[in-house]
Amino acid sequence: MATAGKVIKCKAAVAWEPNKPLVIEKIEVAPPQANEVRIKIVATAVCRTDVHHLLENMHNDSFPVVLGHEAAGIVESVGSGVTEFQPGDKVIPMYITQCRECRFCKSPKTNQCEKGWGAGRHSVLATPDSRFTCKGKKILQFLGTSTFSEYTVVNQMAVAKIDPAAPLDKVCLIGCGVCTGYGAAVNTAKVEPGSTCAVFGLGAVGLAAVMGCKAAGAKKIIAVDINPEKFEKAKVFGATDFVNPKDHSKAISQVLSEMTNGGVDFSLECVGNVGVMRSALESCVQGWGVSVIVGWTNLEDFSARPIQLIAGRTWKGSAFGGFKGKYGIPQMVKAYLDKNLKLDEFITHNMTLDQVNDAIELMKQGKCIRTVLHVSPQ
Ligand SMILES: NC(=O)c1ccc[n+]([C@@H]2O[C@H](COP(=O)([O-])OP(=O)(O)OC[C@H]3O[C@@H](n4cnc5c(N)ncnc54)[C@H](O)[C@@H]3O)[C@@H](O)[C@H]2O)c1
Ligand SMILES: [Zn+2]
Ligand SMILES: [Zn+2]
Repeated sequence: MATAGKVIKCKAAVAWEPNKPLVIEKIEVAPPQANEVRIKIVATAVCRTDVHHLLENMHNDSFPVVLGHEAAGIVESVGSGVTEFQPGDKVIPMYITQCRECRFCKSPKTNQCEKGWGAGRHSVLATPDSRFTCKGKKILQFLGTSTFSEYTVVNQMAVAKIDPAAPLDKVCLIGCGVCTGYGAAVNTAKVEPGSTCAVFGLGAVGLAAVMGCKAAGAKKIIAVDINPEKFEKAKVFGATDFVNPKDHSKAISQVLSEMTNGGVDFSLECVGNVGVMRSALESCVQGWGVSVIVGWTNLEDFSARPIQLIAGRTWKGSAFGGFKGKYGIPQMVKAYLDKNLKLDEFITHNMTLDQVNDAIELMKQGKCIRTVLHVSPQ
C-alpha cells in the first residue's frame, strides 16, 4: 500500500464541542503503532450513543472528538506485532475489546475486557490516546473506534475479521445496534421458546431485540414505543402486539400485566430512560421475570422497590448484547449472508459522510431507524 507507514490526510467529521453540529475537516491520521490496525472506513451508521455523547455529555474533557462506532471497513496497514490482520481484510471495529488474555476474556460469563480503552473511563467514552490531529490539535477517539472518518486507527484487540463476501454498507450495523439488541435477548435475557416478551423502544437496538426474541422462539412479543410510526417496522421483525404508552392513562406495567396474565417473562429496555427501565422491570412477572437494561444514559440513577426483586424478578444489563466481538461478529455476518439475520430492513436512509449532521437530525427527530453513511468506496 502506498500509504503504509505515512500520515494519511483525510476527511472526518469532528465534534469540536458538545451541542454543536459536527464539522467536516481534513485531519491527519498517523500510522498504526505496535499492535494497531489502520482501517479505511467504508460505511458507518449513526447510533443513539453518538447522539447522546454530543448532546448529553457531562464531561468537558471528551471533546474535540471524532464520533461513530457502528462501522465496517478494510485494513489499510498494520503496526508491528500484528499477525491476525493484513491489508485488504474486511473488518468491523469493536468498541468492546477482546484481548483474549484477561480474566474477563477467559471467562465464558462476560464480554467485558479489562484491557481496552474503557479501563477506568467508562463514563467519559472518549480517550486522548488517538492517532488523530486536526489544525495542530489532538482529537480524541470515541469508544476506541471513531468511525466518522475515512481512516481510523484501532488496537488489534478491537477488530473483528469478517467474510470477504460481506457487503460493508449493510454489515456495518453488526458493529453495534444489531448485536446489542439481538444479543440482549438471546445471550443476556436468554429468552425461552414459548415465552412472552416486551421490548421498550423500537430504534435499531429495540428492533434487533424483537428479532432476537423471535429467533429464540418467543410466542408473544409486545413492542412498546411512544412513536407509533415504529410499529410497522416492529411487525417486520416479529412483534405480535403493539402498545403506545400515550394511549393509556394507567401505568404501562399494568397494561402489560393485564395483557399477559400477570406480566411478561422477559422485558428489554432499549430507550435509555431510567423511568422506562423501572417500567420494564415492573412489567415482568413475579417469580421468574427477567428484565434487561440495554439503553444507555449516565444522566440519572435508576430506582425501584426492593419487593420487585424479592418477589423473584431479575434485573440485568447488557453491553453489545453480551457478544465477545471476535467470535460473535463474524458469526452474525455469516448469519446475514446465510439469510438468517435481517439487516437491510433497519436501513431507512443512505447518505455520505458530508451529510452526517442531517443523519443526526433524523435520529433526534425519531425519523429514521438507521442512516448508513457511505464513507469510502468498497
Ligand atoms: N448497551 C449497549 O451496549 C448499547 C449499545 C448501543 C446503543 N445503546 C443504547 O440503546 C438505546 C437505543 O438506541 P437506538 O440507536 O435504537 O436509539 P433510537 O433513538 O433509534 O430508539 C429509541 C426508541 O425509543 C423510543 N422511546 C423514547 N422514549 C420512550 C418511552 N418513554 N417509552 C417507549 N419508547 C420510547 C423512541 O421513540 C425510539 O423509537 C440508546 O439509549 C443507546 O444509547 C446501548
Ligand atoms: Zn451504538
Ligand atoms: Zn480482555
